[in-house]
Amino acid sequence: MIAEPPRLGVLASGTGTILGAILDAGIPVRAVILDRVCPAAALADEAGVQTEVVERESYGDDFDRVAYTHRVVEALKRHQIDVVAMAGFGTVLASPIFEVYPGRILNTHPALLPSFKGWHAVRDAIAFGAKVTGTTVHIATEEVDAGPILAQEAVRVEPGDSEETLHERIKVVERRLYPETIRQFLQEIQLLEEIQRGGIS
Ligand code: GRF
Repeated sequence: MIAEPPRLGVLASGTGTILGAILDAGIPVRAVILDRVCPAAALADEAGVQTEVVERESYGDDFDRVAYTHRVVEALKRHQIDVVAMAGFGTVLASPIFEVYPGRILNTHPALLPSFKGWHAVRDAIAFGAKVTGTTVHIATEEVDAGPILAQEAVRVEPGDSEETLHERIKVVERRLYPETIRQFLQEIQLLEEIQRGGIS
């Protein structure tokens, strides 16, 4: 039996250029979930993709990360999402999402993991004096920026690079590599489901 293509949900927060690249690559996106009102929402709207803002109630010490993660999971379930792609999502999520979508959450990080983990990967690479950095597409796990690597590409740090100029050159690569990797991942999940249903032997 032929399995349905997995339904992709994208989590975004920022300018949404990575989301834009996923949409431009023609990858079907079922829903975009945002943690704040941001330009990524307009991109999704223009592409006719449903959006849902799961607004954070706090950015302070009282932020309940687990409760917030449950709200994100509920939103993903409402849209019947099978695979999640994080595209510059500004909130670190807690264990519940990794329990509901084990091995099915992808992330793109603007450095060559395991180097320069965390929010300031581009700034940290410049500060360290790295001559080469890059981008990593990986499976997201509860431990931040630590899951299995699916794809990587190097980007040279040029003399005089600022965080902005270097990040933009990295993003040029991400906008190609992430959609390619997502497409391949979705095909592999679909194939796996067909094998599990006994459609392919
Ligand atoms: C990308 O560099 C991604 O690796 C990082 O956040 C950035 C998102 O860019 N996690 P944009 O907001 O989609 O332009």
